[in-house]
This record gives sequence, structure tokens and C-alpha cells, in this order.
Amino acid sequence: MMTMFFRAVALVVLSSAVTAQAQQALVDERQDGFNEMGAALKTLRDEYKSGSPKPDEIKTALATISTLSENIAGWFPEGSGPDAGLKTDAREYIWKNREKFDRITQELIEDSKALAAQADSGDIAGVGKQLRALRNHCSSCHDSYRVD
Ligand code: HEC
Repeated sequence: MMTMFFRAVALVVLSSAVTAQAQQALVDERQDGFNEMGAALKTLRDEYKSGSPKPDEIKTALATISTLSENIAGWFPEGSGPDAGLKTDAREYIWKNREKFDRITQELIEDSKALAAQADSGDIAGVGKQLRALRNHCSSCHDSYRVD
């Protein structure tokens, strides 16, 4: 009887360790994804600052941001925050006010897609005027949901 009890406990401990490992891998994946978005945003800034932005660079950077932003919702399942003992800069508040989190994500997806289309149509200068608005989606989420 006792043996069975200990076996059951061991199993529970083992499976939660596996889960924690999988969740930490997910945190690594989302941090890599965000770093890629950060690099793309920096490319956009640098290109426009140079005074002669290269259309291909602009298009690629916008494609990166719009593609990766579609992954954001899936990067934050329940139980992938600091309360689960994970090393993350995500605030637990994400899961307390998910609605706003998802709304900001949606705005980023829509705006980055629109800008990507605008760049594809050749209006590189017009895209440059909206970079600040694009970046605001990043910072408005970080202000509420990321430890600085
Ligand atoms: C809806 C919320 C949200 C949006 C939108 C968002 N981020 Fe983040 N970002 C986060 C959260 C939460 C973290 C912390 C992730 C973690 O540590 O697990 C993060 C982390 C980061 C990091 C640090 C990654 C690391 O190595 O720790 C960078 C860089 C970053 N974001 C860039 C961006 C850029 C650039 C954009 C816009 C193009 C953006 N983010 C949009 C929520 C968001």
C-alpha cells in the first residue's frame, strides 16, 4: 500500500518536472522570437535613419514582425509565467487581464500586415511615417505585461 503511494507521488513529481522543462523551453522560444522582432525593428529604424531605406530590407523586416506577431498568443499559455517558477520577464498579470493583452497583439498583427502590404506596393516613404505607431504596440504591451 505504502509502496504504491510513494510510486504515485514519484510519478506526480516526475511529470511536473517534465512540464516545467517544456514550459521553460517555450519561454526560450518566445524570447528568441521577440529578439528577432527587436532586431527587425532596429533594422527599420536604422534604414530610415540612413536617409535612403533599402526597400528589400524594409519588406523583410516587416514580414518578420507580422509573421512572428501571429505567434504571440500561442507563446503564452496558462502556467508559463513567473508563478510557475519559470525564468521569465512576463508578468503574471497577462493571465489576469488577457483581453487587453490579446487586443494589443491583434493591433500589432493588423498594423504590421498593413505596413508590409504598403511596402510591397512601393510606398516606402509612407511606411516610414508610421514606424512610431508600430513601435507603440510593442511598448504598450511591455509597459503592462513585461518586467522592465
Ligand atoms: C502583447 C504583448 C507584447 C507585444 C505586442 C510585444 N511584446 Fe515584446 N515581450 C512581451 C513579453 C511578455 C515579454 C517577456 C517574455 C519572457 O521573458 O518570457 C517580451 C519580451 C521582449 C523582448 C526581450 C526578449 C528576451 O530575450 O528576454 C524583446 C526584445 C521584445 N519583447 C521586443 C518586442 C518588439 C520589438 C515588439 C513589437 C514589434 C514586441 N516585443 C511586442 C510582450 C509583448
